Amino acid sequence: SSIQKDNGEETAEEKNLITIGFSQLGAESDWRSANTVSMQSAFVPEEGYNLIYKNGQQKQVNQITAIRTFIQQEVDYIVLAPVTESGWDSVLGEARDAGIPVILVDRRVDVPDKNLYSCWVGSDFELEGRKMAAWIQKYTETIGMKADELHIVNIQGTIGSTAQIGRTRGLANAARENGWDLMAEVTGDFTETKGREVMSGLLKRFDNINVVYCENDNEAIGAIDAIEAAGKKAGPNIKNGEIMVVSFDGVNKEALDYAKEGKISCIAECNPLHGPRVKALVEMLVEGMKPDKFNYVDEKLFSSIDDVTEVEIDGVVYPVQDIGE
Ligand code: AHR
Repeated sequence: SSIQKDNGEETAEEKNLITIGFSQLGAESDWRSANTVSMQSAFVPEEGYNLIYKNGQQKQVNQITAIRTFIQQEVDYIVLAPVTESGWDSVLGEARDAGIPVILVDRRVDVPDKNLYSCWVGSDFELEGRKMAAWIQKYTETIGMKADELHIVNIQGTIGSTAQIGRTRGLANAARENGWDLMAEVTGDFTETKGREVMSGLLKRFDNINVVYCENDNEAIGAIDAIEAAGKKAGPNIKNGEIMVVSFDGVNKEALDYAKEGKISCIAECNPLHGPRVKALVEMLVEGMKPDKFNYVDEKLFSSIDDVTEVEIDGVVYPVQDIGE
């Protein structure tokens, strides 16, 4: 890389460091903060890297500006955690024209030309949604609820993000197949504040909600506040008027504590520790090797309810990890 400094300090180039421009989409959730720390800890000078981190504040336009800046700085590699899937063709074309390989992390981009990026590593978000739906199905059957007695609301993530698209699809398909009443899908932008606001509105709109599917833990924490503020109880005992909350991530302590207490009934793991995984991909590219295009991370379900110990999807068994006391 030819990152210049004119203050007498050695440049990254002089130190022989590989410069990585990392366009992170934001800092909207605990998951995201853990993901940023994982990247920053993997790409350190002692390991031969100079990481330039840019926070996109959940706006694609900021991420596009960051990528253009990286191109001007002639970084060696660009790592992109894209906020939403569409609208990346031109800027990724510019990176390709500049000869800078792009690695995607976490969410994906929807571009017709798959050669606009080298590879991707992240979660199978639709599978996460399917696993959660399978858990809901199994648990509610165990307690003797009929399918048409489930009245579900979905507090979605950032609309158009891979995590939202997959998790929403996982639930919507299961609702159709099982005959569940999926009453509303409203975005909570993956934040606690919006989760609280949206849930409070939903509780005013519907008096029969018994399952809240939150597309991340931060939304779930906000939604539980709203449930309690409305004088109701978040818990798995839906036959006795509790509202069952389920969510995704399993990163933050508060959410895991809520899961231990049963306020969150089940969490589908979404693993944020991609730093070493992205580093392994960069190392392959440095060596002139061709990594797999799509690299998936294995993930579990977490619950303190011991009625369901596993779910099965397409013949594959996924364990439910007990996180009770
Ligand atoms: O793309 C991963 C999702 O983004 C995580 O589930 C969520 O917490 C984050 O904001």
